[in-house]
Amino acid sequence: MKNTKVMEKNARVVNRHINSKLKGKPAMLYDAAGHLIIHGGKRLRPYMVIKSCEILGGEMNNALPAASAVEMIHNFTLVHDDIMDNDEMRHGVQTVHKKFGMPIAILAGDVLFSKAFQVVSESKLKEHAIAQLISRLAKACVDVCEGQLLDIRMASQGRNPTEKEYIEMISKKTAALFDVSCSMGAICATGKPTDVTNLSTFGRNLGIAFQITDDLIGIMGDPKITKKPVGNDIREGKKSLPILMAIKLSRGNDKKTILKVFGNSRASKKELEKATETIRQLGIEESVRNQALKYAKKAEKALSEYSGPAKIELVGLLDFVVRRSL
Ligand code: IPE
Ligand code: IPE
Ligand code: MG
Ligand code: MG
Repeated sequence: MKNTKVMEKNARVVNRHINSKLKGKPAMLYDAAGHLIIHGGKRLRPYMVIKSCEILGGEMNNALPAASAVEMIHNFTLVHDDIMDNDEMRHGVQTVHKKFGMPIAILAGDVLFSKAFQVVSESKLKEHAIAQLISRLAKACVDVCEGQLLDIRMASQGRNPTEKEYIEMISKKTAALFDVSCSMGAICATGKPTDVTNLSTFGRNLGIAFQITDDLIGIMGDPKITKKPVGNDIREGKKSLPILMAIKLSRGNDKKTILKVFGNSRASKKELEKATETIRQLGIEESVRNQALKYAKKAEKALSEYSGPAKIELVGLLDFVVRRSL
């Protein structure tokens, strides 16, 4: 079966499981919690949980609670991230705080966060495996918070981060959840420390490659495909790899055009479009994609001792992540 078909099949199972868990009253709270989930999303992280379990010979059903939980955590981070990033659109619809207001958005995030831990704790696994899942998931959430603060701090400080600092920031804000998706999958299967470490390394590097590509799409992407506006990272002064490269490479009027809108919340749509177009013309896409590829290769290496259909599917994901335009 083609990778996209396998992903869709997994997504349907995960969606059903999540929907069955996200119910309650007042209904508006659960509508807000499920808002982004029902309007889209790739379900990449649950796919990674399930495939990391299967690569070790584990059953999908054993990994389903952890798979749904990580998607709930992911959506919790999206709801709060859109508040922090002042973003109004995601998945082609209004962000949760825009549609439901700030207090309900904060609560919707909290519900997703709490339900995730409840769902994992109800996994049909041995107690010590469940304890490991909870501990790892909690640690990943802490990493995301630390990474998100680094992201915000980098945007507000005058100095530009080094590439190493950028990688450290995205390792925490994004790759931590990819890492825990894969290590939780491994725990749901064998729980053998070497397997957990290998899958964790795979997930972390895939996550870094994913965020580098995401930052590229945030500037060069087609909003009709990404379903989120292009140029917001520039407006918010985000120190992403493509933006840092563009600032470094540009000269004269091009540099002025970019710096005029960089971190300028009052920049007009037209000015943002002009800056985006200027960055496109600089030809940085290939070097950014090559950076992502570097991490994708590291990820692939971590799976060298495994074989079978799930290995092919996980390696196929690397290709998808680096080449993607969504
Ligand atoms: C978006 O992640 C947030 C980042 C870490 C960049 P996804 O692209 O995986 O989110 P979905 O597919 O919309 O849920
Ligand atoms: C990604 O945030 C990380 C989290 C959501 C925790 P970004 O701000 O880079 O991602 P988008 O562009 O909003 O999806
Ligand atoms: Mg954001
Ligand atoms: Mg953000």
